[in-house]
Amino acid sequence: MARSLFAHIFFGFLLVSAPIAWGEEDTDSDLPPGEGREEVEIYCSACHSLKIVTQQGLSRADWDELLVWMVDEQGMDELPPDDRKLVLDYLAKHISIERVREMRKTP
Ligand code: HEC
Repeated sequence: MARSLFAHIFFGFLLVSAPIAWGEEDTDSDLPPGEGREEVEIYCSACHSLKIVTQQGLSRADWDELLVWMVDEQGMDELPPDDRKLVLDYLAKHISIERVREMRKTP
């Protein structure tokens, strides 16, 4: 009896803690909130850390080129046009040159 009660509590704990762990993983990526964030998280974390993405600061044209490069040279699957636009909009807006300049200004 005592043992089954323990198992009950233990598995109950697993069920409750699982979504919390997922939440933590989510914020680990450092991506600022915004439209397209989820797509970037899904597409761009497949091969490398998202830190490699957030460390960058590029203009829209440079992000565009980088996506082409990622497909041509690094083996990324071509994104569906709608998602590609979302990803590109997100990167150009949130991981921009200006953002990196701001970050460097404030130590
Ligand atoms: C199929 C695997 C794959 C996927 C998916 C992928 N990348 Fe990459 N990416 C790579 C590899 C491999 C490198 C390292 C290339 C090197 O340094 O030689 C890289 C490097 C990078 C770099 C660093 C470039 C530099 O100047 O060093 C950035 C930024 C980047 N990826 C962004 C992205 C973004 C944004 C996405 C999502 C749209 C993405 N990656 C998806 C494979 C991938």
